[in-house]
Amino acid sequence: MLSVQSLTKKFGGVAALAGCSLEIPEGQITAIIGPNGAGKSTLLNCIAGAVTPDGGHVRYLGTDVTGAKPYILARNRLVRTFQISRELSSLSLLENVLLARQNASDESFFDPILFPARVRRQQDADIDKAMKLLVRVGLEGLADATPNILSGGQKKLLELARALMLEPRMVLLDEPAAGVAPPMVQVLIGIIKELHQEGVTFVLVEHNMDMVSALSDQVCVMAEGKDLMSGSFEQVASDARVVEAYLGGVL
Ligand SMILES: Nc1ncnc2c1ncn2[C@@H]1O[C@H](COP(=O)(O)OP(=O)(O)OP(=O)(O)O)[C@@H](O)[C@H]1O
Ligand SMILES: [Mg+2]
Repeated sequence: MLSVQSLTKKFGGVAALAGCSLEIPEGQITAIIGPNGAGKSTLLNCIAGAVTPDGGHVRYLGTDVTGAKPYILARNRLVRTFQISRELSSLSLLENVLLARQNASDESFFDPILFPARVRRQQDADIDKAMKLLVRVGLEGLADATPNILSGGQKKLLELARALMLEPRMVLLDEPAAGVAPPMVQVLIGIIKELHQEGVTFVLVEHNMDMVSALSDQVCVMAEGKDLMSGSFEQVASDARVVEAYLGGVL
């Protein structure tokens, strides 16, 4: 479904990606793990169009999307969430979810004047959809609240609801469990499992091994900007190269 070939990206003298290749099969949950600074977030950023790679290719559904803008990818139902959540603090939760919607007809200058009934219907449908997503992630009781009162885990759930507003086929998650209390990690795992059963493909960058082992069909290990190996969680956890990458990189 997604194929990454020999991606490279330098920031000044630092090679964040040094020839990284990866295959993400449709309908699976692929976890990307690796020590801090391995290039995991840079990889997600290059796939999602937030960062333009220096070299290499990204193919999605058979099309070369290297360097494509995030909104183009979102239109093709490839979306991502951020390692640090990016909600807007002055808006309510419902408005934050609504903001993610695409092609809203009320954003055209003329449509509300020429087709007020149609625009209102669309708005009502969007509000209904956003509310259902808040129910889905268990935040419906806080729909009118602002995100500053949310816990770390609730912010991740809001991020997920925002991504779901785009009806994604593939979701890239950057550390959804970071800063999240253990019971809420279990809630997140349950929701991701449900979405996966409904056919959503996930790429999960994560340090939380409870989440990785609970969710992953395939685990890819990155070290120093490259793909080191991939396999099942058990295969990866017992591989000497992986242990070495973690010890060499972290300690
Ligand atoms: N915008 C940037 N400007 C300069 N250097 C950057 C930038 N983004 C990443 N880097 C560097 O690129 C390397 C890879 O960073 P990246 O954030 O992709 O790692 P990571 O695997 O996501 O790490 P972590 O597990 O800590 O989130 C690091 O050395 C980092 O300092
Ligand atoms: Mg990162």
